[in-house]
Amino acid sequence: MTVSTIILAAGKGTRMRSPTPKILHKIAGKHLIAFSVDLAKAVKSKETIVVVGNENEHATKAALSGETVKFCTQKSQLGTGDAVKVALAGFKIRSKYTLILFGDTPFIKNNTINKMISKAEKGFDFIFLGFNARKKNSYGKFKLGPKGTLIDIIEKKEPEYNSFESLSNSGILLARSGIIADLIQKIKNNNAKREYYLTDIVKLASKHGHSSTYVQCKEDECIGVNSQLELTFAEKKFQDDFREKLMASGVSMQSPETCFFSFDTKINSGCVIEPYVVFGNGVKIKSSTVIRSYSYIEGSQIGRHCQIGPFARLRPSTRLSEEVKVGNFVEVKNASLASGSKANHFSYIGDAKLGISTNIGAGTIFCNFDGKNKHSTVVGNNVFIGSNASLIAPLKIGNGSIVAAGSVISRNVPSESLAISRAMQQNKIGLGKKIMLKLQKVAGKITR
Ligand code: UD1
Ligand code: MG
Repeated sequence: MTVSTIILAAGKGTRMRSPTPKILHKIAGKHLIAFSVDLAKAVKSKETIVVVGNENEHATKAALSGETVKFCTQKSQLGTGDAVKVALAGFKIRSKYTLILFGDTPFIKNNTINKMISKAEKGFDFIFLGFNARKKNSYGKFKLGPKGTLIDIIEKKEPEYNSFESLSNSGILLARSGIIADLIQKIKNNNAKREYYLTDIVKLASKHGHSSTYVQCKEDECIGVNSQLELTFAEKKFQDDFREKLMASGVSMQSPETCFFSFDTKINSGCVIEPYVVFGNGVKIKSSTVIRSYSYIEGSQIGRHCQIGPFARLRPSTRLSEEVKVGNFVEVKNASLASGSKANHFSYIGDAKLGISTNIGAGTIFCNFDGKNKHSTVVGNNVFIGSNASLIAPLKIGNGSIVAAGSVISRNVPSESLAISRAMQQNKIGLGKKIMLKLQKVAGKITR
């Protein structure tokens, strides 16, 4: 059975009180709307139409520029029924069923939509997704008929709302395309909010001899984001689920609640993540690597048996091979470190390529920026860079070389050489004592 998807995302999101459109807020580094786009892909949607508003049109199109979705604009936000009508006026749906998702409801599972599809296969025309809400809320409520049928959905503002208890409406709907295209025209706004309610389609369906039913899922799958507080609840749920999955796959965490992951973080089994580590987007870590506390890692690929941190910062395009050590207060950006290389203390390694078993001494700075352009540094295998060296790019340091501590290196270093670039030390015998005495006299400690 084929499905096409309409994602409703034109709402103003006023309760977010933010200049960023609601659906472009992020959970674990991923836009809210992207969760629904991914769900449509997961259920093999034949086409996906996103309904945007005038205000978020530009930013939403930019955020989804890599996706094969179509857009249509709902000029005034007259309700969910109107949003679907706008989409159906703009596009002729090519599938037998149309799935309606919301741009602000990120956790609906593929499996749940498949259950809705099974009901459609049994012949139902409209299948809504409901859940049992633990607390009092403002969701629409299902009015149930015999044998699991649905006869109406009552919205919060309507008089009947408080007269009965029932399942809450998630808003997600799977509908027979031909029928919804017809009935959507008939929805009216003669209700308390003067809105075109998509949920009125249930009553209209039964009036015209079509069938409606529902599928029930867990409440936390239906979490919607309407305010900053709800965004943090959604983030918490994502992080909790993600941590659980990581631990189930063999990743150790002493204090998982203090570690934060991105939607695309990949960590293989045998890794240990110490407390207070943050992962930005695009991190992949191979097995048995240890990430020590207070490290911040993004856009990085890390090999097996590495040791990172504590207090390490790995920025985008960092590539670490096996058994690499990046220690405290070391920042790495757009650089690769081949196996066995070490930078254990207080360094900046930017725009560089380091060979195998190379050692970067404490306080070494790769000077990659001349104020206008970035330049790169290539360091060979088995190189020893002494502490507090400044390596001024563009620069090449050959295999097996040594750079003396405190050097400022601006010319290439051939293989197996010692490069030293610092002022010659002088020892003035006895002068230390003389100066000490003079200082003590000035301070009045010696009178003679
Ligand atoms: C809707 C449902 C309610 C359900 C709840 C679940 C209706 C009438 N009510 O109510 O039964 O319990 O969701 O969260 O459908 N949107 C547009 N254009 C509009 C209005 C809304 O695109 O003119 C989009 C919003 O961006 C949002 C979605 O539709 O993604 C839901 O809209 P919202 O206003 O949040 O609906 P609720 O009042 O929460
Ligand atoms: Mg809502």
